[in-house]
This record gives sequence, C-alpha cells and structure tokens, in this order.
Amino acid sequence: MKTIRPLLQESRVFVLATSLCLAVSVLAAPVTDPQLEKVVQQGKELFTHNTFNGNGRVCQTCHLSGGLAPGKLPDGKAIPSLANAAAVFPLFKPRQGKVVTLPDQIRNCVGGALEGQAPAYGSDELNALVVYVTSLSQGKAIDMGGKPQ
Ligand code: HEC
Repeated sequence: MKTIRPLLQESRVFVLATSLCLAVSVLAAPVTDPQLEKVVQQGKELFTHNTFNGNGRVCQTCHLSGGLAPGKLPDGKAIPSLANAAAVFPLFKPRQGKVVTLPDQIRNCVGGALEGQAPAYGSDELNALVVYVTSLSQGKAIDMGGKPQ
C-alpha cells in the first residue's frame, strides 16, 4: 500500500497537469493582435450570454463549449461543432436555395434559434460574433462548401 499511494498521487498530479494544459490550449484564442483579441472576447461574451431579446437561449445553449465542442439541440439532437465553421463558409444551402455567408448564418441563428432581434449587417454586435466564430477556425485551411467538423 505504501508504494501504491505516492504512485497514485503522482498520476493524479499528471492528470491534473494534462487537463490544465488541454483547457488552456482550448481556451486560448490564438490571436496575437490585442485590438482584434478585444473584439474576439466581446464576441465570446455575446455568444455565451446574449439572448438578443429572444426566447432566453444564447448561442452556447446549442453550440457547446463556446462552439468548440460538438453541439446539441434542446431536443438532444447532435449538431457539428463550430470549430471550422468560418473555414467552410460561404456555402450553398439547398433549403434556402442560395449561398449563405457566415454573417447571414449567424443572423439566421439569432432570428430562428434564439427568436431574437438579429443585429444589423455591419453592426458592432454582428461583427463581434463573426470575429469570435472566425477565431475558432484560426489555423484551419479554407474549404468553402466543405463539411463542418
Ligand atoms: C436552438 C439551437 C441553436 C442556437 C441557440 C444557435 N444555433 Fe447556430 N446552428 C444551429 C443549427 C441546428 C445549425 C446547423 C443547421 C443550420 O441552421 O443550417 C447551426 C449552425 C450555425 C453555424 C454554421 C455552422 C456550420 O458549420 O454550418 C454558425 C456559425 C452558427 N450556427 C452560429 C450561431 C450563433 C453565433 C448563435 C448565437 C447567436 C447560434 N448559432 C445559436 C442551432 C443553434
């Protein structure tokens, strides 16, 4: 027993250190420009907290872990993460019969999923959401019309 205990403690420290590293690498937005990073953070705040005067949902209600983890609809149905969303947009949406851009998609989610008031094109709010969602795809190769991850 005496020899097992320190081993167990060591492995606990290892697991903790590894989870901390993982958490930091997932949380840290790989954006170096401080002005840009400021808007990334504003967008993240909107994404995680703003209901846009709708039904009480926020983006993160469905797009889990700030959009980085696979998402879940309120009825439990799985949806892809937003980890490469900015890299696959714009894309053709057969249901809408047209090409949809990232700002279009975000406005659609505010109007539809949140039943809220979608921020105007060119507004600081929509720009911040676009900047935040784009930051999730930092480093991903552009793959317009590709598969979401
Ligand atoms: C009720 C659940 C729900 C909420 C809340 C929601 N969305 Fe979505 N979102 C979806 C679904 C479902 C899709 C994929 C289907 C579609 O609409 O094309 C999607 C797709 C997206 C996509 C495109 C992903 C891709 O790769 O195709 C983006 C970007 C996005 N949402 C951003 C947002 C933002 C930003 C918010 C908050 C303003 C938000 N969503 C709120 C359900 C939601």
